[in-house]
Amino acid sequence: MGSAGGSCGKCCCSFIITLGLTALFLWLSLQTNEPKCYVESFYVPTLNQTLKTPSNSTILFTLGFDNGNKDKGIQYDPVNVTFAIFLDRNRTKLIGNFTIAGFYQGHQKNAKKPGSVEIHGGGLNRTEKVNNISYFRVDFNTSVKYKILLWYTKRHSLWGGANVPVDDSGKKPGKKGVRLGHTVAVIVSGAPVLAGCYCALLVLGLFVNFLFLDL
Ligand SMILES: *[C@@H]1O[C@H](CO)[C@@H](O)[C@H](O)[C@H]1NC(C)=O
Ligand SMILES: *[C@@H]1O[C@H](CO)[C@@H](O)[C@H](O)[C@H]1NC(C)=O
Repeated sequence: MGSAGGSCGKCCCSFIITLGLTALFLWLSLQTNEPKCYVESFYVPTLNQTLKTPSNSTILFTLGFDNGNKDKGIQYDPVNVTFAIFLDRNRTKLIGNFTIAGFYQGHQKNAKKPGSVEIHGGGLNRTEKVNNISYFRVDFNTSVKYKILLWYTKRHSLWGGANVPVDDSGKKPGKKGVRLGHTVAVIVSGAPVLAGCYCALLVLGLFVNFLFLDL
């Protein structure tokens, strides 16, 4: 009797463990990470000081989409991209838009989507300048569904924006992409420096905290 009860208990136990592991595995495999979107390149020929073409009203750009999911593909609906100039540091005015056709992206893939937009009514050279850097506002929105094995999840909306700097060559300076995140359309000069300082202070604070807790 004792031995029979023991084996039943074992069986029951392994069943529960299997069930638990399956649930954990399912839960883990259903976790999805939003793709990251960047402005990889941004060129406004009319702001190229060596070119001197005040009549050129084009913006040329490349957006990058980064699927960091280890084993999930992403189906993007058409991506709406809008472009705005800054009337001052706090106010923007829409000047153009562009649609990137929907596309599928495999897991851990990076997609580059180039495009250009013709701005009617000018205004490219009237955007707000801070410390010789002109700023443009770029926003996007779309929805995505994730492919898990053979199935798609429901649609999730995806959106973001950034203030893109442009220097005297008409280009976004640097090679690093500008992340289109959940940021506000306000030009705050020196903000990255301040944020960096704050971060360093926070880490220092935590470190000191641990040091004293240990003693
Ligand atoms: C600006 O114009 C000059 C002269 O045409 C050209 O050589 C240069 O490549 C342009 N700058 C950029 C960033 O394209
Ligand atoms: C503006 O400049 C770009 C890049 O140099 C060029 O591809 C485009 O054709 C120009 N547009 C006009 C209207 O001149």
